Amino acid sequence: MKIESSLIWAETKLKNSCNRPRFEAELLLAHFLKKDRTYLHAFDNREIENIDGFKKLVERRANYEPFEYIVGSVSFYDIELEVEQGVLIPRPETEILIDLVSNIIEKENITSIAEIGIGSGAISIVLAIKFPNLKIVATDISKIAIGVAKKNIEHFKLENRVEVIESNLIDEVKEPIELVVSNPPYIANNFKLEPNVANYEPKEALFGGEVGDELLKKIVLSVKKRGIKYLACEMGYDQKEPMEKFFKEIGIKRYKFYKDLAEIDRGFILFF
Ligand SMILES: C[S@@+](CC[C@H](N)C(=O)[O-])C[C@H]1O[C@@H](n2cnc3c(N)ncnc32)[C@H](O)[C@@H]1O
Repeated sequence: MKIESSLIWAETKLKNSCNRPRFEAELLLAHFLKKDRTYLHAFDNREIENIDGFKKLVERRANYEPFEYIVGSVSFYDIELEVEQGVLIPRPETEILIDLVSNIIEKENITSIAEIGIGSGAISIVLAIKFPNLKIVATDISKIAIGVAKKNIEHFKLENRVEVIESNLIDEVKEPIELVVSNPPYIANNFKLEPNVANYEPKEALFGGEVGDELLKKIVLSVKKRGIKYLACEMGYDQKEPMEKFFKEIGIKRYKFYKDLAEIDRGFILFF
């Protein structure tokens, strides 16, 4: 099959699962051929060898598998990270959390932080690249996430400054820490997610409990108990009210909520 006709075939296949089927068809074919998209336009009459290999990728996307798992990578902040099924695909809104944490690190000259739930390594790696004096201990309960995070950390040669350990929250973090950052699972267990998320992304990265905010509350309590000065967390769009009530109940006076670019409540920073 020629490039142009295979793109027409793929576009039809992807109509239901993608918002931009032609664009994704081109991205998948470019990935498959290890070329960029301009090549497809310049040589649209060329025959594709092993067309079945390309068709398999398209079938996976037509079954709603996220594009990032199929190609095995994701753009996040200003870097590319490896991802695979079993680890959450980092979302653009988490970049806001990184910028807010960066402001605190800069202003307070912070050199030691922890991340709860490292996933692919997105937050810790960007922060470690931004701040060459920063040491990070990052935790996760998922062995797959820990494996992927370690690969990404090695790729950026950050093994000396980003340590990853298997731990519930910060239970196994023994060293003194000045700030904790986390994008934890915060979705309610029974929330109906889109098929590309529900059928492919790891449950332990998404669901925070019956209500959704259970793990967020445990994080707040564990950081408070350890006497760590700052906690920055992402949260769900509807969790500002319950979290604020919780802060008041446990005597936290200094806190700030933040919104994402769509003006939706997205997280908080606590100053203990
Ligand atoms: C929403 S994902 C965030 C991943 C990554 N930090 C990011 O922003 O893309 C949450 C991560 O927390 C991990 N996790 C869930 N429960 C945890 C716990 N009790 N202690 C530590 N990590 C946990 C999950 O395995 C998952 O990797």
